[in-house]
Amino acid sequence: MKNQADADSPGAGESMQSKTERDYILGTNDEEVIRLGSQHRVWRPVVSKLWWKAGITVRKRVLDLGAGPGYAAIDLAEIVGSAGEIVAVERSSKFISVMKEACRSRRLTQVQIRELDLMTDDLPKAAYDFSWCRWVLSFVSDPALLIKKLAAVMPIGSIAIFHEYGHYLTWRFSPRRPKLERFAEKVSESWRASGGDPDVALNLPPILSSNGFTIRLAVPRIYCVRPSDYMWQWPAAFIESGPARLQELGYVDKAFVNQVKAEFAEAAKDPDSRMITPLVLEIVAERTG
Ligand SMILES: C[S@@+](CC[C@H](N)C(=O)[O-])C[C@H]1O[C@@H](n2cnc3c(N)ncnc32)[C@H](O)[C@@H]1O
Repeated sequence: MKNQADADSPGAGESMQSKTERDYILGTNDEEVIRLGSQHRVWRPVVSKLWWKAGITVRKRVLDLGAGPGYAAIDLAEIVGSAGEIVAVERSSKFISVMKEACRSRRLTQVQIRELDLMTDDLPKAAYDFSWCRWVLSFVSDPALLIKKLAAVMPIGSIAIFHEYGHYLTWRFSPRRPKLERFAEKVSESWRASGGDPDVALNLPPILSSNGFTIRLAVPRIYCVRPSDYMWQWPAAFIESGPARLQELGYVDKAFVNQVKAEFAEAAKDPDSRMITPLVLEIVAERTG
């Protein structure tokens, strides 16, 4: 495990993947760094309210699991302040570099960044008050193993917070858009084929219970949006990079990529379009035993 506190690595402008880069199914290139930023901004009001409700405040210590380029970690660092601490763990060296540079430029010395693999490495031990895990469990090979590791470092009384997909294929359109619906199915298939689970949150409550967590909250977050709603930009950002990624991985061809993009552009042009978003399950659990 490497301590990534130094800040001599390249940031988001780096276009070449490093030799040691450990990718995930959605990729870790510049486009994915940008997409994760856009996704975070759209969801920021929802997660801010959740963190507020869960009790994250100044001087708290938060473990951020699979922090990506650090968008949530930075917001959390600003909330807990210089007397608090964020421990952000992530496998991708590219994302780690981006996160280090973002923290350095904002002088957020309260963020400890650790490059590690959630499946093969232990989690850093500390007196955590909270953990935060978003859109990570769908991409690990063994979510139960990660929760077991989490239980090993979370003290009694600490709070684990999750935003994970509970039903990815709720992603639908009105009027119907067959290529976009097919695209969502292909995405789901590709995650499963790489050992992930696009509906992973359904398994989470029993796994948490058997690891000494008591569920305090489980709420579906699903939206029916129009092109003029900011939430529309969440899937829109994925349409920018997702179809090309599936082509790169051999799931679809160029013609399909073009059809998906054309159908989405058509939907976006129609002010009466409705899009139902992939269902995210919000879970708050307390470590009780
Ligand atoms: C969809 S991104 C979400 C990033 C961040 N949590 C967010 O909400 O913006 C999934 C993240 O999980 C990370 N990841 C996937 N498998 C991992 C593993 N085995 N160990 C550590 N990180 C992993 C990826 O590198 C990526 O940063």
